[in-house]
Amino acid sequence: MTAQSSRAANDLSAPNDLEAWWLPFTANRSFKQRPRMIARAKDMHYFTPDGRAVIDGAAGLWCCNAGHNRDRITAAIQNQAAELDYSPAFQFGHAAGFATASRIAQLAPGDLNHVFFCNSGSEAVDTALKIALAYWNVSGQGSRTRLIGRERGYHGVGFGGISVGGIVKNRQFFGSLLAGVDHLPHTYNRAEQAFSRGEPEWGAHLADDLERIVALHDASTIAAVIVEPMAGSTGVLPPPKGYLQRLRQICDKYGILLIFDEVISGFGRLGTAFAAERYGVIPDMITFAKGVNSGTVPMGGVLVRQGIYDAFMKGPENMIELFHGYTYSGHPLACAAALAALDIYRDEKLFERAKALEPVWADAIHSLKGLPNVLDIRTIGLVGAIDLASRPNAVGARAFEAMDRGFNEYDLMMRITGDTIALSPPLIITENQIGEIVDKVGKVIKAVA
Ligand SMILES: Cc1ncc(COP(=O)(O)O)c(C=O)c1O
Repeated sequence: MTAQSSRAANDLSAPNDLEAWWLPFTANRSFKQRPRMIARAKDMHYFTPDGRAVIDGAAGLWCCNAGHNRDRITAAIQNQAAELDYSPAFQFGHAAGFATASRIAQLAPGDLNHVFFCNSGSEAVDTALKIALAYWNVSGQGSRTRLIGRERGYHGVGFGGISVGGIVKNRQFFGSLLAGVDHLPHTYNRAEQAFSRGEPEWGAHLADDLERIVALHDASTIAAVIVEPMAGSTGVLPPPKGYLQRLRQICDKYGILLIFDEVISGFGRLGTAFAAERYGVIPDMITFAKGVNSGTVPMGGVLVRQGIYDAFMKGPENMIELFHGYTYSGHPLACAAALAALDIYRDEKLFERAKALEPVWADAIHSLKGLPNVLDIRTIGLVGAIDLASRPNAVGARAFEAMDRGFNEYDLMMRITGDTIALSPPLIITENQIGEIVDKVGKVIKAVA
């Protein structure tokens, strides 16, 4: 690249090459013809290069729980970069990493008191699955190798995550490494649950399917069950009342580890630090990412219970206990951002705020019932989903148009999956802004009728 062309590529006011970046989970050809560009952000808004303020109905990608460009987080990242830009976490440590792990452990219920850091939700899931397998090995039950996920589960895009995940498109092209898993049925049934608020009444019995899976494979071959307490990415499926408690009981009965994937539900999204607290169920591990530092610097991690950590802490003291880790595990900038975000969550009582706003949010979103093509609405915490009827022979087209026109014509950012609109605003949202978002969603739904 010549000096001149490198200058041109770095001119961010108007990128002249949209080809080189292969965007993830994106219709690239469509995007590059009609890009949805974002230039900056503050609090509840994104701003386009031409200065339009777009209200953020999605907290970016379910992650900016404290809102955007918060001064305390920005300053923490800047200061950390000036003090310690990078430090290896293999055989060395730094204060921000230990402080962050302690703060996260304090937020977690029960004895979930050790944290293994990584850089994303996908890495968190693969780390948790590996810890589960290794745990059984070091505990003398190495035959426990099978991992149980759930249909419609999303656990990121690593090979472990797509194996236990239950989204066909994420699995179908990557087949050969997906062995050794089984899946619980998903918990959604429109006939029984349509337009429920919070946890649906129907469906706790679906946890009993784990008994069938145990009968088929035998508990001695099963290492762990992993579920999202609330399935987010496949369209917001709150757990039926009593479902997670039942899953815990069955796992206990057979000595199977239970992992909650809280990459979305962690850090206040459901009105508590973790969904485990909302449901009074203590899993053996919790995966987290996203909201841990309000989406500002890549970070993920796994919370593990005391007994799991202890199982590894034996043998010669100079030996590495777990052969796993990432160059950027506990990156100083990610930790500094997390400490600042956790301060904001605490000082502004954002988890409590999400809880207090839950009924207001639910009322607002459920008011969309009756609009054209609305088949179901689900709400829980500060999350909502609206299922739209698909156009004939064009699954996903209606919601895609809603997302595109929402951004371009109504100054609204939202997520879509299939023909479902998913909403999960930053937890700093005001009641007026809830009204604004829902008003815009209503207009968009009419526009794409
Ligand atoms: C429950 C869950 N697990 C894992 C992931 C993957 O996270 P990441 O995209 O940071 O790898 C996501 C992402 O949305 C998620 O919702």
